[in-house]
Amino acid sequence: MRIPIIAGNWKMHKTVQESVDLVREMKRGLNEIQGIEKVIVPPFVSLGAVAELLGPTSIKLGAQNMHWEEQGAYTGEVSPLMLQGLCQYVIIGHSERRTYFGETNETVNRKVRAAFDHGLLPIMCVGENLEQNEAGETEAFVSQQMREGLVGLTAEKVSKIVVAYEPIWAIGTGRAATGVEANRIIGLVIRGTIAELHNETTAQAARVQYVGSVKPSNVVEFMSQPDIDGALVGGASLKAADFTEITRLAAEVKGTGR
Ligand code: 13P
Repeated sequence: MRIPIIAGNWKMHKTVQESVDLVREMKRGLNEIQGIEKVIVPPFVSLGAVAELLGPTSIKLGAQNMHWEEQGAYTGEVSPLMLQGLCQYVIIGHSERRTYFGETNETVNRKVRAAFDHGLLPIMCVGENLEQNEAGETEAFVSQQMREGLVGLTAEKVSKIVVAYEPIWAIGTGRAATGVEANRIIGLVIRGTIAELHNETTAQAARVQYVGSVKPSNVVEFMSQPDIDGALVGGASLKAADFTEITRLAAEVKGTGR
């Protein structure tokens, strides 16, 4: 039984005050939706205020990135110790971090391991760019990201991971992949690689989200697919009505867990 999970990645949007205003707008509606995990991922500086505002609701919090060390001379970085107790999830290796900030499968792996070591659940992002997609390299590329990202993790940890499959060419472009194709890569490559590294039970336990231009009008297409357990939503998570509607539709399609 995999509990579906919708997460809203706000990226570099919203000041602290704007974050508070947006959460106020969506809190009640989101809180009422059951049978699905709901995660808000605001910028670091808003985490404290948002955590306070959410209080004991069913809405969880995530961070957008994290360093793997607990502390040290790493100007500008945020450590797992700092996130512990503040949020439950942390996005690791988002394609924007890989593209603009030089993150590699190796740094992603360090961060994923550090997250588990500190009781945070990683949302590990993988996915191919347009060039790789058109060259037919998707399977090999994503499989390698999975293998290298999961180095040194036990089956127990891998069974708890959330993998976010982001075909990079579908992010912020309005051009989503098809549900069928995303489901194929998730089943064949993402779960397939986990099964090779560990076993089928672990592959079936790990949750996998689709990422890229998810909106109320296409979420049902993705959530209807058997291997897709949720979505990591960018742009549409900045609008209270859209994010709530995406979550409601996802919960409706998936029922209570599956
Ligand atoms: P969009 O939903 O805006 O395409 O962004 C996807 C994403 O990168 C979420 O992390």
